[in-house]
Amino acid sequence: MSTAWTTTKIRATKGREKLACLTAYDFMTARLLDEAGLPLILVGDSLAMTVLGYANTLPVTMEEMLHHTRAVTRAVKQSLVVGDMPFMSYQVSFEQAVANAGRFLKEGGAGAVKIEGGAFRRPLVETLIDNGIPVLGHIGLTPQSVRKTGGYKVEGRTADAAAQLLTDARELEAAGCFALVLECMPSALAAEITQAVKIPTIGIGAGPHCDGQILVCHDILGMFPDFTPKFVRRYAELGRDMIRSFAAYKQDVEGGTFPAPEHEY
Ligand code: KIV
Repeated sequence: MSTAWTTTKIRATKGREKLACLTAYDFMTARLLDEAGLPLILVGDSLAMTVLGYANTLPVTMEEMLHHTRAVTRAVKQSLVVGDMPFMSYQVSFEQAVANAGRFLKEGGAGAVKIEGGAFRRPLVETLIDNGIPVLGHIGLTPQSVRKTGGYKVEGRTADAAAQLLTDARELEAAGCFALVLECMPSALAAEITQAVKIPTIGIGAGPHCDGQILVCHDILGMFPDFTPKFVRRYAELGRDMIRSFAAYKQDVEGGTFPAPEHEY
């Protein structure tokens, strides 16, 4: 029997095991995450900032997302790879959304796609699933709406906003999402949503009661030495280590100590 992670298997973890998920955008990182046994790897549109240097997720294109999704799926043997649909790849029409989501599976080799938005996305989610494309929902802070919201902030703090997020979660579950990302909301609300739905919730800045957690790989590795969001735990200081390594290499080359005899042919 295959031990590879599928959307069905992810869904079946509800109430049984916690899901540790991370983002990846390249072959090597994906290979290491897969070897570490992570059930789900998201090729997030955070690619825009982490790899491509944009200020937010809005500019990243379908071609850029597919290019990186292919690199990730070439490496992965066990994890479920989810392609994040970029801004304006699914908002314009259902026809475009199905075509673009289909490209993640057909050309990118992904097992599912992620889209942002709550109850109003139900008809689109149903259409994607009807066409054989599994969907990971994403509610709470939805970074693609940053121009509307005016910034990144914790969502669901008022009673009305919390009730709306609960409705969003239920509607996305009813639409057929196999799991839901809950981003930046009070832990108590994420706990309530997690209790209310039968599909796994995967939190980011949503506290410990979710069925799983997801973080941006660059954040946990300390690749941005001067910035860590409150909800991130850093497991390495690669940013600082890399600067140190580059500087040491520079010093060795400039000082003539590299290459040494053992590096010569
Ligand atoms: O693009 C992204 O990285 C995300 C998060 C949920 C991690 O959407």
